[in-house]
Amino acid sequence: MCGIVGYIGKRDAYEVLIKGLHRLEYRGYDSAGIALINAGGQLNIYKSKGKVADLEQFAADKDVSGTIGIAHTRWATHGEPNQVNAHPHYSQSEELAIIHNGIIENYAVLKQGLAKHGYTFRSETDTEVLVQLIEYTKHTSAVDLRTAVQLALNQVVGAYAIAVIDRKNPTQIVAARKGSPLVVGVGDGEYFLASDATPIVEYTNRVIYLEDEEVVTLERDREPQISTITNVSKTPEIKELELTLSQLEKGGYPHFMLKEIFEQPQTLRDSMRGRVNVEQNNIAISGFIDNRERFLNAKRIIITACGTSWHAGLIAMYAMEEFARVPVEVEYSSEFRYRKPVIGKDDVVIAISQSGETADTLAAIQLAKNAGAFIFSICNVVGASIPRLSNSGCYTHVGPEIGVASTKAFTAQVTALTMLALCIGRAKGTLDEPRFLQILNELGNIPDKISQILHQNDRIADFAKTFTYAQNFIYLGRGYNYPVALEGALKLKEISYIHAEGYPAAEMKHGPIALISQEMPVVVVAPKCGTYEKIISNIQEIKARKGRIISIVTEGDSQVTQLSDFCITIPSTEECLTPILSVIPLQLLAYHIAVVKQCDVDQPRNLAKSVTVE
Ligand code: AGP
Repeated sequence: MCGIVGYIGKRDAYEVLIKGLHRLEYRGYDSAGIALINAGGQLNIYKSKGKVADLEQFAADKDVSGTIGIAHTRWATHGEPNQVNAHPHYSQSEELAIIHNGIIENYAVLKQGLAKHGYTFRSETDTEVLVQLIEYTKHTSAVDLRTAVQLALNQVVGAYAIAVIDRKNPTQIVAARKGSPLVVGVGDGEYFLASDATPIVEYTNRVIYLEDEEVVTLERDREPQISTITNVSKTPEIKELELTLSQLEKGGYPHFMLKEIFEQPQTLRDSMRGRVNVEQNNIAISGFIDNRERFLNAKRIIITACGTSWHAGLIAMYAMEEFARVPVEVEYSSEFRYRKPVIGKDDVVIAISQSGETADTLAAIQLAKNAGAFIFSICNVVGASIPRLSNSGCYTHVGPEIGVASTKAFTAQVTALTMLALCIGRAKGTLDEPRFLQILNELGNIPDKISQILHQNDRIADFAKTFTYAQNFIYLGRGYNYPVALEGALKLKEISYIHAEGYPAAEMKHGPIALISQEMPVVVVAPKCGTYEKIISNIQEIKARKGRIISIVTEGDSQVTQLSDFCITIPSTEECLTPILSVIPLQLLAYHIAVVKQCDVDQPRNLAKSVTVE
């Protein structure tokens, strides 16, 4: 959460920083701010509550000149989202300005210490404490900014990606990270700094991913100086970006979320490219091939993730148990990390994360790694912290997902996990060859089948208009499609603010059926598979209580269709692959309901795309 961006070079820093903030706005949009040092050596800070557009309006008549600056878009942790708590923060003397993504956990103790030395605080933030500590260290130890940052960070407990500028030395930005991401863009005599590469790609494709506890000094026309916070110097490793600018634009769609839903046929082809080979009857995942014995000897697989990624993990549990015949546990990272889980050296831990930066998932895998487990991660963002901490893994390659509600990342995660389950099952001999080939063959058909579902978009959009009244929704599914019900409910609540519950259909009679009335829309994910007959009985029970049924059924279905008020069809497929299809109508339904309700689909309230705080 929170996006940070910095620039030093010959360009007008304001333009670069504002554009960068727009690209990073998905990381938080409670407030935004910018700090610039102008040619006269003045350090100007402008901040405003709300979005980057509000900041632009606020700064419109101000002096925004300067070729060095830092900027921030905030997802509030310490202190309410107002102008005072917005970043950048000045130090006491107003010589320094800082931006920060992360949490300084021991800020209260540090603040007390600084107060004793006469420091006062304007905001309620942990970040202001850090900039005061840097200034205090700089003055009392008579050191330069870089050393002051290093010394201060040695006293800090918590996570940070920071950038600091000094009015008295307008030729450098000092930045550092631990637990929160930070990328340096290397231009021609100029440098960019950002939480991810999206603000940088427009100017250069040469980047340096900072490691934890590294500090970088950026000066025009000089190599970046990198060292650790304990002053061990490091050689910068420049990497080339694969990202393109067009991937960061809406491409004619009204929202990123809709674009990303419609991209899914292509993103799944990209995810499977080089891995699923129907002609050669093979699935090749290099992270599996290189660590085959670890998987085959695993006594247990523990899957850990949050939110939508956790739902993908739950689907994987069905596939791993069916094909690989191995015990599987699916854990919320946030709970797992604070339990005292029994983890063994024979356990394989699979972490799933679109961003690769989710703080709870990072902590969960660190815990498992310390206990000797083998860590395999499924991530989308190349080079992010989770894949770097893992022993091995598999990227989903769906391109940047910008809508806060995850869509294309989910279907790719389920696809990757299913491929992995098939590989393990085949190698162990728990999945026979004809069945392996049948599913492999069908995997190749999935992108076209998604395209067929997307043709129903207009129908779903029309139907969504009838739900402006709804206060609550229930989503039901069974087996492989129970996690899809959870995912459908999550999509609806996060972007339309309608309360929605996902449930295993057969659990209704143990309590939630009391909620059913004619006002309650019930979405039932009921494709033709194992539990089809059972779910029909569950639907009958809801009908008997006048619930309104919206169903996701397989083409040609008649039984569930007859019981439904509205039906969306999906093509027939293998049971283990139904979630990849059945989730598409639920993504569209949530999207269109949110649009009808005039909600901010891509940036729903209170949320951020990348949850880098616990
Ligand atoms: C999904 O729509 C969410 N915005 C959220 O639940 C997300 O899946 C979760 O925060 C995990 O993120 P990650 O995949 O980047 O780890």
